[in-house]
Amino acid sequence: MIGAKGMLGRDLMTVLHAGLPNDEVVGWDIEEIDIQKEEETVTKIEILRPSIVVHLAAYTDVDGCELDEGRAFAVNAEGTKHVALAVSRCQAKMVYLSTDYVFDGNKREPYVESDSPHPLNVYGRSKLQGEQYVQTWAKEALIIRTQWLYGRYGKNFVTSILRQAREKRVLSIVNDQIGSPTYTADLAKVISVLIQLDARGIFHVANSDLCTWYVFGQTILKLSGMDKVKVIPISSKELGRPAVRPSYSVFNCQKLKRETGLALRPWSEALKDYLQMGQERQGEE
Ligand SMILES: NC(=O)c1ccc[n+]([C@@H]2O[C@H](COP(=O)([O-])OP(=O)(O)OC[C@H]3O[C@@H](n4cnc5c(N)ncnc54)[C@H](OP(=O)(O)O)[C@@H]3O)[C@@H](O)[C@H]2O)c1
Repeated sequence: MIGAKGMLGRDLMTVLHAGLPNDEVVGWDIEEIDIQKEEETVTKIEILRPSIVVHLAAYTDVDGCELDEGRAFAVNAEGTKHVALAVSRCQAKMVYLSTDYVFDGNKREPYVESDSPHPLNVYGRSKLQGEQYVQTWAKEALIIRTQWLYGRYGKNFVTSILRQAREKRVLSIVNDQIGSPTYTADLAKVISVLIQLDARGIFHVANSDLCTWYVFGQTILKLSGMDKVKVIPISSKELGRPAVRPSYSVFNCQKLKRETGLALRPWSEALKDYLQMGQERQGEE
């Protein structure tokens, strides 16, 4: 796995280790392999000769990507191409994680895998180019698009809201973007099943039910007993982030259900579990 020390990577390493002997799962991150370097990437992967390469590594700071397009494309697009080239040389199978931000959000009904992408921001464009490289070089790859991730490892929206709630009495949260917050522990289990089933092609995977960031934030505070903190709904324009986000980022996950029988639980249930396990604290490690 590449990107094994990221938020999703750590959960997925745990799930894969539970099902396979330890020496069959190798986790690399930036210290072991810099995917921006073509020769290093291809050589290291070729020497290992894996049967499956799960590629999660990415420059995931959406606003950072907007401000540094060169880095976004060097890591998310070209870096992915280097991994895909190595995969094709080893005749391995590739699993690539992509994003809802490949869509523009104008559809107003849940996006299916065959919908035409049209990213609004640099991060989305760079990840889409990554998808295209994977489809070109790593035949029969599995591409999993997901969204609004939070989890035990790594800073995320939940840890950010809880930190801000400890510091301020009033929070302003955007209320004009709709999506499905997705718990990395739930996603990791699905990725593992898709790998076991040798699934190929594109799959949309997210926890079910929808909300805005504002409703997500309110729910985090309520479930954490911090609902005395006032939350003000604002528009994306008022927040003024560098990267434009789609206003409607909703996946149709029926293909996953049809082909695997799996459906992720509602986001609010997953969030309860995450908060009950006191994982917010660990997320800030
Ligand atoms: N987070 C979300 O909401 C979300 C939504 C949709 C899709 N995804 C996709 O899901 C995957 C996992 O996301 P995540 O949130 O778990 O990401 P993450 O926590 O940012 O982890 C990504 C990992 O990749 C590493 N990395 C960065 N540049 C690298 C390079 N040049 N070579 C090797 N490794 C490099 C990062 O190291 P550093 O930390 O040192 O940079 C980090 O450990 C990504 O592909 C992402 O695009 C994420």
